[in-house]
Amino acid sequence: MIGTLSSPKVLPIPGENSQRNFGAVIIGVDIETLNDTDFDLIYDTLYRRSVVVIKNNAKLSPKAQYELTCRFDPASTEYGHGKTLDAKRSVLHPDLKTVPHQPQVQVIGNGLIQSYEGLENAKLRHPHHKTFHREPIPEEDDLNFTRFYRWHIDAALYGMNPPRVTSLLAVSVPKGRRQTLRYDDGTGDELDVPLGTTAFVSGYEMYNRLSPQDQEFVRTSQVEYAAHPYIWMSGARSRPTGLGLFSEERELSEAELPPIESDKIQVLPMTWKNPVTGELALQIHPSAVRRIHLKDGYIIDDLERVREIVYRLQRPAISPAFVYPHDWEEGDLVLFNNHGVLHSVVGAFAEDEVRLFRQCNLSASAPPVGPDA
Ligand SMILES: [Fe+2]
Repeated sequence: MIGTLSSPKVLPIPGENSQRNFGAVIIGVDIETLNDTDFDLIYDTLYRRSVVVIKNNAKLSPKAQYELTCRFDPASTEYGHGKTLDAKRSVLHPDLKTVPHQPQVQVIGNGLIQSYEGLENAKLRHPHHKTFHREPIPEEDDLNFTRFYRWHIDAALYGMNPPRVTSLLAVSVPKGRRQTLRYDDGTGDELDVPLGTTAFVSGYEMYNRLSPQDQEFVRTSQVEYAAHPYIWMSGARSRPTGLGLFSEERELSEAELPPIESDKIQVLPMTWKNPVTGELALQIHPSAVRRIHLKDGYIIDDLERVREIVYRLQRPAISPAFVYPHDWEEGDLVLFNNHGVLHSVVGAFAEDEVRLFRQCNLSASAPPVGPDA
């Protein structure tokens, strides 16, 4: 076959426009036997375009998926959430099942999977916004309308560094209808999306759209995340945009959490530097944020105020024109720069709609690079 393989090509994502200027498709690479030249192309494209779609990988092995993900950070080996998913009260607990022979790779999706990569009779559940949002879309509109479930960075945010890159592989995708995504925040914003899309927004856009004063604020402030954040937030309820939580004092108290090791609490820069372009992304996990540390050392501790500040900074860049809702096809391998985008699950499947995805990310070998590095 040597000589018949075409050389890899980088193509724009269909529907790209002047406002949503990230994402790329790469064709003509073989991930199972990836050479250094092709990896360099993927690496460079990922850091310039934030989201990379590589088509026709339905047969990719979990090992090759892990090895590709690891290549972005060769000193990393452990799954991005470590063992914290085992905690029954974590809001992430029901959503992920571990591949037994490749524990850094998780199976996610919807429906009953009889046998897959060593998992038997795995019951998968696509998260529905009604389990997380305070005022979900009424049952009678649920087929046609949907929400962003939860905007986030893939990260444990407690004792482990946020993974640099996440890979998502679509193994089976139900043939879907489209839905109208509603923001329901008084703006009237709506977005037409494919069923079960994964939505992405750019943290670079989020930073670039801020006023010079706000840019200065986010360059010089840090975010402190809650200890055991996914357990801590388990009683709290989301805003209708999926961009952070209402402040109703429903978070778990320290006494209700597992023991807290203070050296595991993460205080991270608000902006993270792109290792290839040097650009800054505004990267805050809006649901897990607990305090803001200002440059003069003052700490904003009032949770409601902290959330209002973060919401005001982030909301403009999740407006419809800036969102990339990926239209999944079987075999799509999507890699994203987890230090440069926020993403959200979207949509709702019927119980018999079987969707099977594999996700891999690895706790980074070093913290995110801040603006002054
Ligand atoms: Fe995620």
